[in-house]
Amino acid sequence: MSAQRTARPRTTRASVRAATLSDAKQIATLVTALGYPTNATDMKRRLESILADSTYRTFVAEVGGEVVGMAGACLARFYEKAGLYVRLVALVVSEASTGRGAGAALVRAVEKWGAENEAAEIFLNSGVQREAARSFYEKLGYRVTGVRFSKELG
Ligand SMILES: CC(C)(COP(=O)(O)OP(=O)(O)OC[C@H]1O[C@@H](n2cnc3c(N)ncnc32)[C@H](O)[C@@H]1OP(=O)(O)O)[C@@H](O)C(=O)NCCC(=O)NCCS
Repeated sequence: MSAQRTARPRTTRASVRAATLSDAKQIATLVTALGYPTNATDMKRRLESILADSTYRTFVAEVGGEVVGMAGACLARFYEKAGLYVRLVALVVSEASTGRGAGAALVRAVEKWGAENEAAEIFLNSGVQREAARSFYEKLGYRVTGVRFSKELG
């Protein structure tokens, strides 16, 4: 994905709804496009657990009745103060559908869900290689506030 982009016609803007199990195939395609290859069967199994967990929320964005993007988020508790925060766990819009507001609509849906659940803040990790994502998040008011460390276990 290029950091330069052309806005697409706003007449075909995206709408957002809560994901259901029947979105497993489209979500698998999106998660694969994000760089984590999977299939509909595995995604359906994952979604069965995720959708049953009230601390998680999964949204899909549609354009013209087609699922073109997804966002997944969860609520977690702060140790350093009272209360909850939201972690945006996954966000992806199909390459063919970028620039129609789907990404922003998905993030806003997650923020709204967090606020409704009295979360005070939202955090996310984004790989340093995803330069375009950085521009996108900054446009939505997000700021870089740290670095991520990771290590495989087991
Ligand atoms: C990043 C991503 C989610 C953006 O989705 P999108 O649907 O194209 O974004 P939107 O159309 O809602 O854009 C929202 C705003 O961000 C801006 N924006 C989006 N992508 C941008 C980019 N690459 N460079 C600069 N600005 C960008 C848009 O111009 C728009 O601003 P505007 O409202 O002033 O026009 C999408 O490109 C994507 O899925 N990328 C691959 C996966 C990825 O990087 N996910 C995030 C991982 S943490």
